[in-house]
Amino acid sequence: TPLAILISGRGSNMRSLIAACAEPDFPARVVLVLSNKEDAPGLDFARQAGLRAEAVPHKPFGKDRKAHERAIDARLKEAGAEFICLAGYMRLLTPFLTDAWAGKMINIHPSLLPLFPGTHTHERALEAGVRVHGCTVHHVTAGMDEGPIIAQAAVPVFPREDTADALAARVLAQEHVLYPAALRLVLGVKSDTVEKNTSLVVV
Ligand code: GRF
Repeated sequence: TPLAILISGRGSNMRSLIAACAEPDFPARVVLVLSNKEDAPGLDFARQAGLRAEAVPHKPFGKDRKAHERAIDARLKEAGAEFICLAGYMRLLTPFLTDAWAGKMINIHPSLLPLFPGTHTHERALEAGVRVHGCTVHHVTAGMDEGPIIAQAAVPVFPREDTADALAARVLAQEHVLYPAALRLVLGVKSDTVEKNTSLVVV
């Protein structure tokens, strides 16, 4: 499946998806990396990996989210993308794009949804005093972090010594395992990674 990855920054989840797609038996190939920020470090990595990586900055479109999304949609089609992974893409999408790609666009979120949608999830998990935290891969709908859940991975919280940064790193390591595994699942292929980590990753 020709895959596009949308990013806004660092791109570590993008890297895990690129690595997975390089495996001969993986059911997707990266055809495009798109960022709404020209200086996203993930773009450089993708280019160095020989991938088509472009920015469609949102700034010139001002408040016209739909016009920005139209520009994104045009690039996606040009590149022949048939499936989209949001990987740290920090813009809310409107129904224009979520309807056009319904069932073909997934996101990774750093919490066990429906807990802690939005930002600062690790700080909020610590504040709430939960003992289990994690990440979720879900279908993208117009509601923020609201689409149907595909897979989740859990990590422990150590309430006395944990900091938001330590917790974020623990979750991120699981994100990198979960995202390619969930993508495989959505594309209809059983995931060995998930089966080998059933205590940790729940589908
Ligand atoms: C990740 O924690 C992801 O779950 C969230 O944004 C962060 C992006 O990190 N949506 P990276 O750019 O993939 O390194």
